Amino acid sequence: MDKVLLIGSGNPGKQQELQALLADTPWIVKGLKDFDEIPEPEETEATFEGNALLKARYYGEHFGVACVADDSGIQVNALNGEPGVYSARYAGEACSYDDNNQKLLKALETIPTEQRGARFVCCAAFVGTDSSEHVEVGTVDGIIAPHCKGDQGFGYDPVFIPEGYEHTFAELGLDVKAQVSHRGRAFRAMSTFLQSYSD
Ligand code: IMP
Repeated sequence: MDKVLLIGSGNPGKQQELQALLADTPWIVKGLKDFDEIPEPEETEATFEGNALLKARYYGEHFGVACVADDSGIQVNALNGEPGVYSARYAGEACSYDDNNQKLLKALETIPTEQRGARFVCCAAFVGTDSSEHVEVGTVDGIIAPHCKGDQGFGYDPVFIPEGYEHTFAELGLDVKAQVSHRGRAFRAMSTFLQSYSD
């Protein structure tokens, strides 16, 4: 029987990436736009795993379907791992992606290239209709560029140059990003799990 899998994310950038990454699973993949609108849950946990599970449980339980959600962010070495789980709100509660990028570039203004190391982390969480849970983590290392470059992707993509490349994620585009990104890695592992999962 075909099973419904809800992607529990209101972020259009993530939704687009996850839809592609989960396309090969035997699930009917749906987004929040396919369901009645409900408020987003507050991300009250201190870890990526805690917040990813919180989101998958919240949407899955509310709509009575299996649900995947992720929590992700960027950890910058020179800032002792910040902004981390606060990546979305780094420049304030109602800030834009550009506000975050400008704040990050300013914080690293005097930091030379070799000390601009950073890592994207993605924790992917699955919650089944039987309340079973499964978590996968993906990471990608790179550096923070001196300026914003490129117009694809979302969030910190214009300032992040992945290891082995000379261009930002926003310049490299979604196909390259899917191959090497933290979300690509976490959700390819999740996709393998979902191929064989049966409740
Ligand atoms: P979340 O929705 O709580 O997981 O917040 C994740 C935040 O981390 C996003 O709003 C972005 O600022 C940042 N982020 C996570 N993944 C990516 C990515 O793939 N590219 C750029 N920024 C990202």
